[in-house]
Parts: sequence; structure tokens; C-alpha cells
Amino acid sequence: MEYGYFDDRNREYVITNPKTPVKWINYVGTLAFGGLIDHTGGALICAGDPALNRITRYLALLPGSEFKGQTLYLRIREGSRYRVFSPFFVPTLDPYDRYECHVGLGYVRIVSEFYGLRANVTLFVPPGEARLLEDIRITNIAGRPLEVDAVPVVEYTHPDALKQITNADWVPQTMQSKAYPEAGGLLILAQYPFMLRDTRINYLTSNRPVSSFESDRRRFLGDNEYGTWARPLSLQAAELGCYEAQRGDNIAALLHHLGTLAPGETRRLITQLGQAPSVEAARPGIAAYRDEARVDRAFAELAASWERYLSSLQVETPDPAMDRMLNIHNPRQCHTTFQWSRYLSLYQTGYGERGIGFRDSAQDAMGVLAGLPQEAKELLRRLLSVQRAGGSAMHQFNPLTMQASVGDAAERPDLPQYYSDDHLWIVLAVCAYLKETGDLAFLDEPVPYYERGRDGRPLATGSVRHHLEAAVEFTRGDLGAHGLPLLGFADWNDTVNLRAGAESLFTAHLYGRALLELADLLRHLGETVAAGKYLAWYEEMKARVNACAWDGAWYIRYFDADGTPLGSHANAQGQIYANAQSWAVLSGFATPERARRAMDSLYEWLNTPCGIKLSMPGFNGFDPARGGITTYPPGAKENGGIFLHANPWAIIAEALLGNGDRAYAYYAQINPAARNDQIDTFECEPWVYPQNILGDEHPQFGLARNSWLTGTASWAYQAGTQYILGLQPTYAGLRIDPCLPAAWAGYRARRRFRGATYEIEVANPEHVSRGVARLAVDGRPLQGNVVPAFADGATHHVEVTMGQPA
Ligand code: NOJ
Repeated sequence: MEYGYFDDRNREYVITNPKTPVKWINYVGTLAFGGLIDHTGGALICAGDPALNRITRYLALLPGSEFKGQTLYLRIREGSRYRVFSPFFVPTLDPYDRYECHVGLGYVRIVSEFYGLRANVTLFVPPGEARLLEDIRITNIAGRPLEVDAVPVVEYTHPDALKQITNADWVPQTMQSKAYPEAGGLLILAQYPFMLRDTRINYLTSNRPVSSFESDRRRFLGDNEYGTWARPLSLQAAELGCYEAQRGDNIAALLHHLGTLAPGETRRLITQLGQAPSVEAARPGIAAYRDEARVDRAFAELAASWERYLSSLQVETPDPAMDRMLNIHNPRQCHTTFQWSRYLSLYQTGYGERGIGFRDSAQDAMGVLAGLPQEAKELLRRLLSVQRAGGSAMHQFNPLTMQASVGDAAERPDLPQYYSDDHLWIVLAVCAYLKETGDLAFLDEPVPYYERGRDGRPLATGSVRHHLEAAVEFTRGDLGAHGLPLLGFADWNDTVNLRAGAESLFTAHLYGRALLELADLLRHLGETVAAGKYLAWYEEMKARVNACAWDGAWYIRYFDADGTPLGSHANAQGQIYANAQSWAVLSGFATPERARRAMDSLYEWLNTPCGIKLSMPGFNGFDPARGGITTYPPGAKENGGIFLHANPWAIIAEALLGNGDRAYAYYAQINPAARNDQIDTFECEPWVYPQNILGDEHPQFGLARNSWLTGTASWAYQAGTQYILGLQPTYAGLRIDPCLPAAWAGYRARRRFRGATYEIEVANPEHVSRGVARLAVDGRPLQGNVVPAFADGATHHVEVTMGQPA
């Protein structure tokens, strides 16, 4: 069963059957103002922080058929009654003649036909604006005149999203709405909790006369709410009650008489759901966006901003599903994780227990460096500002208040209150930023550490470079019995929570990678002594890992506090872990023989047709001594599930070892765009990577969940572009080092890099996987495979011939 198709020309996925197995969503706007729109028009909109400034009340836990956050009702007058339906299918569930939800770049467009009316509704947030526009066009296709009304409806939440759920005393007593009629019958319907009345209001308004409105949910649904969202009783009356709510469940419903539409005739209505300090402050913007031409321009500006972002890299390979992901959907998902981290989706519901994750966002930043370098730099600054002076980092922070916390560790005060990996990711992210941009001055920029004095001022500040050095120094001083990094509460795998004293091989490898990055940077700065110091630390850890963590056919993953290994053939469960193998290659700690053997073991024990499992066999019962991993049944999530974030690391490891066939096979087998015909098994959106897929120990093997907000986005993009296609930013320039499946005859790419454009043509006449035999730039042969950063605004042609280097 298929639920839609890819329209690559328009950079859309088009859903043609609204009854998808789970809700599919798209994102509009940014963290500053925006959120998610589901494929039947429900909307979860927030400004700045989903937990502290949420606008619409979207309850993801309700069934797919329920009203969520907002909808549009249309009604056709039929004698003394009205036929009322939603062109979004939900919540009225009327039979449709046509239903399309176009999932576009920063917009959703629903095109539907019901009862002789065609609706074409585009929802988007204009770049930089704090308003969601709904551009509604209604066309009579009935062949006879139809008298039509349009009623957009929004349901508000208290801005403190959790309080809305937990406090049904305080919240309803504070929620208020007020109508501001304007000339020509226009109306602004404002809403606020009482305490924010004079500082921050939400509003719904439109560009056509409003004949009546409602702001109280009970009155809108009618009959003490025994009227329903599917059949609101108030919409059977000619007009709404024009009630300004003084408390209760606040909504905004605006009734517009569109008049009688002749056959073929179209009416356009534009609504705005926005936030502003006051109605007065909102008026100029509202007036501007009532103008149809302004809205058209805003939509064109949105398209242009996505074009700018995506044009940092476009590729043409022999695999159309790979092109579709690398050119459109994967960078779009990276944009989304960059904005919302793991904070706001249908699975990570943004009620405040998370916030912006330190390790997550550091990795997310690495996915958008070419397209959004300035924005990435700003995020890196914010992350660095929640690093502790001792070098470790707070686990997550709240984006409006910059208040940070130790995350889930707080629930287990008996365990260490830090994660052993968090701070090391920032070393990778900052170095990646420097290699992309050449902006070495960033290293000298002062950034405060997290700790504050009584006056709220930072107790210590250090340069960005100092932050990076503090990060590796922290790990160097935080070692266990084998001289390996202590696990802390957890490492990348949040769910393995061992007693204090346990050691993490993942953190050892990440530390190794961070040291290599620092050494590379310092060499580039001409500081060979400092570089040498970090390389000595690297060799020291490499020797320890190889002395104690080789298990015979693969690398061990952890040592418990008493020295018991986990991820060893000696274990009954959790015998082998994917990350222990792939990261032994990424760190460079594995000797060539061990690297090959470890990656072959990964292939043999962990690979499935749906992706690589994180570990096997799964734990089968709750064990507090192991922690979160044992809360899942075998095959789910971190407990032997296909935890997709870890898959690109295996792709990268295979590419580093020169095995282009396997690297590509791993890439292709998790490409969601190749799953469009398997949705009844997969269930999630086929245009984004999900966080997890149930593994083969689970009866529902192949079922995906937690789509959108996953580190898979950034790493799949890095794996595809930097390791398979081999387009790698370095301090000296753009290195071209592809690792292709041998069957490929080559590929083409257009890459923007440090102010110049590179038209790259890779030919693979001998069908090798790795090796650059010749490289010419603008017709002139170049030694090596690093193309200089010309920074001249021009386009340069790069011809690469793969084969044995001369
Ligand atoms: C999801 C979390 O957001 C991420 O930080 C973590 O690394 C993975 N789960 C694995 O546990």
C-alpha cells in the first residue's frame, strides 16, 4: 500500500491518502516561531521554547482522527441547514473526492475536494516572522452556485505547556480572549493568560470581514461539549456567539461569509496566527500580511531561502533515491534537527523534560555547516556557554532561559551526574565549523562557562579554544581501573546506566577522535608542540584500548565497575555492540587487521535488511544494574533495535577502510526514500530518517518510530556527502576522496565552499572504490586531492579520475 509519492521537481512529497498508519508531519518556521503541521492540518506552534511558550494545544496522544491545535471548517448553505466539513479531512472525516497533502520545504499545502468545493490551503511561516499564514483558496467545482462560509479555528494552550496538562485549576482561571474590531468588518481576536495581557498576546486574524466569532470552546462545540469537533453545534447557526472568554478553554473561530461562488469561481482568504507584545504592536505586521501580493512575496522569499540553503550542495549519482535524500530531504531534516534538537515532534513532545541537548545539537550543527554557517556558529556559542569550567558539559538547556540541567541523570542520584561524552562532541563540531568556514578567529572568541555566582554573573570565561582544551582535559583526568574514561551516568547510549566506576569504550574512541581533531587544528596553526602533546595522549589511550578491549573478534563496549566486560562473547546478552566496532575505526584506534575483523563481525552479527542493530542479543527483563536499556523488550530501541543514528557510523567506518560496496549497501538499506512501497510495515514518513526501527528479535521487525528528530539526519548526510561521495572540508581546502560502490562509473556534484562554487565531476573508469589517480582544476592538473579554497566568488571546474594514484 502506498500513501503518496515523491515529487522531486517541486521538492515535495505528496500524500494522497490521509489515513496514513501514524500521523505524518512537516515543520514550518524556526525554533523562534514555528512548529509542526500534521498531514491533516493539525498544528503545534510555539515561539522560542515548546515548554514555556507554546501557542496551540496539540495533544499528540489523541487518535489520528481527532482535532489537534487547529483546523478549517467550510460550510455550504443547503436551504435552512449547513453542510459543515473540514477540507483537511480531520476532524469531520467526510468522504473526499481528492485529498493531497503536499509536504514542501517549510510549507504544507493541502489540496482537497469535497461536495463540489476545491480547497487549496498553504500553511507557512514567512522567514523571520512570528506568524503562521494560512493562504486559503476555495473554488466552486460543483457546476452550480454554492453559498460558502469559511471558519478557521485555533485552540490555544497555556504557554507553560506542562501546566496546561497538570493544573486544571489555575490555567482555566487565567485564560482570556478579547476581540478588536477594525474598519471594514475586519477583526483581530487576541488571547493571553491574564498575567501576560500587557506583554505578550497571541492572535488570529484574517484579510476578510468576520461576521461573527467565538473564543470559548464550550460554546463553539455546544451542548456543554456534547457537541464535538467533528460536528460543532454552533456551526449550524447562522452566526457564532461573539463571546469574549473570561476564562476556560480558549479558542479562536472566525466566521467569514465568502458569499455565493459561481461555478469555477475562486475566493481567497488569508489568516494569520501570530504572537506580539500587544495588539497595537501587532497591527502594522497584520496589515502588511493582509495584502495578497505581500503573502505571495513571502512565499517566494521562503522558497529562495531554501534554495540558498540547499544550493550549498547538489549531487547527481547513479542512485535516484540517494539524490532525492542528499539534495532535498536529508538537508531539510538536518535543518529541522538543527532548529528543534530533540525537543518538539510527535514523539518528543516538548513538555520540558528535555530541552536542547548538548550532544544532540553539537552533532546537528555538523549537518548544516555548509548551508547555515552563521546560524551554526551561534548554536555552537550557546552550547559552549553551558559547558562547565572543568570541561564537562551540562546535558541539556532550555532555549529561552538558558537554564541547563543534567537530564535524566537527575532521576538516579545514586549514579554520576554527568555524561562522559557530551563535552567531546563540541570539539568535533567546532573543528568541523572551522574546516567548513576557515573562520579561525572564532577560536579566540571569549565564551563564559556555565557556573554563575550569586549575582548571576559567570564565574569563569575562556576562549573557544580553551573550551575545547578543557573538554579533552576533563576526560583525560576522569579514568577508571583500565585507564579508560569513566562512563558517568551514560555515554552516547543514554540507556546503559552502570554503577559508578564503569568505563566506556565509546567515550574512549570519541576522546581519541577529538584529540585527532585538535592535533590537526594545532598543526594547521603551526603549533607542532601542542599538537604533539595531544597526539601523545592519543597514543596513550590507543594502547590502553588495544590492551584490554579486544575480545577476539570484536571490540568490547563497556567495563562494569568490577571489571566485567559488556559487549563481549562472554556476555549472555549484549554480546556485541555496533558502536564499539565502528568507533574503533573512526577513532583510528583499531589496527588494520582488527578494524577489518571488527567491521566484519558487525556485518555478521548485527546487520539486517532494515539496518544495523545497535547490539545483540537483547536483554530480556528489567535489571536496575544495567539501567534504561532493560526497560525495552528485546529488539526495541537501544536494546537490540535498529537505532538508526549508529548506522551512518558503520557507513563511515567502511568508507574509511575503503570498502565502498558495503558502505553504500549500508547507506541504501536505510534510505527511507526507498521504503515508499513498504509503509504498512515501516509506518513513518518515507522522506525522513526515523530514530529507531524494531530489530529482528521483535515480532514487529521493520516498524519505524520517532521520525524527524534524530542524529541520523546529520550523520547520514555526513556519511553520504563526505565519506561515500568524499567531499571533505579541510583547513587547506576541499578534499575529494570518494569511496564508491565499484559498479558506479562516477558522479557529479556542485558544492559551495568558502565563497566559491565547485563543479565537480568524478569519473571512475576502472571501477575502483577508492583512490584518486588524477585531479584537475579549471583544466590544470593538481598534486594530491585537496582543492584550494579560492574564495573568489567564481565557479571552478574540478575533474577527478579515480584509480591508482600516480
Ligand atoms: C536519543 C538521544 O537524543 C541521544 O542523545 C542519544 O545519543 C541516543 N538516544 C542514544 O541513546
